[in-house]
Amino acid sequence: MSKKIILKGKLVTLRPMSLKDAPNFCRWLGDPEMTQFLLRWYNRPAPSIGEEKSWINKSNREKNEINFSIDTAEGLHIGTLSLKNIDPENKNAEYGIFIGDKRYWGQGYGTEAGRLLLDYGFRKLRLKMIYLRYIAFNVRGERSYKKLGFKYAGRYRQGMYLRGAYHDQIMMDLLREEHFKSQKSNPAYRQANLKSQRYSSKVKA
Ligand SMILES: CC(C)(COP(=O)(O)OP(=O)(O)OC[C@H]1O[C@@H](n2cnc3c(N)ncnc32)[C@H](O)[C@@H]1OP(=O)(O)O)[C@@H](O)C(=O)NCCC(=O)NCCS
Repeated sequence: MSKKIILKGKLVTLRPMSLKDAPNFCRWLGDPEMTQFLLRWYNRPAPSIGEEKSWINKSNREKNEINFSIDTAEGLHIGTLSLKNIDPENKNAEYGIFIGDKRYWGQGYGTEAGRLLLDYGFRKLRLKMIYLRYIAFNVRGERSYKKLGFKYAGRYRQGMYLRGAYHDQIMMDLLREEHFKSQKSNPAYRQANLKSQRYSSKVKA
């Protein structure tokens, strides 16, 4: 999707991916400590800057996905997140995220970014369900997804081969009504979403 949307939270701002982000993406996608968690990138070499720029251009034009870069409130680019495989008929999509700058792991940045994106998906895209997959040893991701309200939906046993061993892939999902219910019952969530209401949903094209 080529919409120029900016979603602002307290810790992070989500903005459209830019070609200037390519060097950071290349560096992060070459770091095995980070890529071991990425079901779409583990066991792959870092892309070249040219490949990454082509991917950014292509992704920004895709109709059935929306990708954002994640900046800190101070404007430092730290990662990316997306809704892919947006299915307008069944009203669902797949959630994906990585914070590439490891200094920002475990401090709430990924979860706040996720809240902003889920709110956008359920409110603006009118999705009914959002789902994800992660590798079983990704305890940080699991904790973050549970805080976002995702529920365990199943597992592909030994679904991923990495560093000489097979690992399970876990599936989670979150329904629209559960998302809105958890906002009502969780003051922190409500606060983050109030801020997200302030995002300028600037749709330019
Ligand atoms: C997964 C990811 C997006 C989560 O974002 P984040 O900003 O690190 O997550 P948060 O800080 O909001 O939440 C992480 C939780 O895990 C906890 N945590 C951090 N390190 C942990 C560890 N080693 N073991 C267990 N829990 C841990 C944190 O304390 C926090 O829980 P809490 O709020 O109850 O204290 C981010 O860590 C990341 O991008 N990791 C690398 C790539 C990746 O895993 N992408 C997802 C692929 S499915």
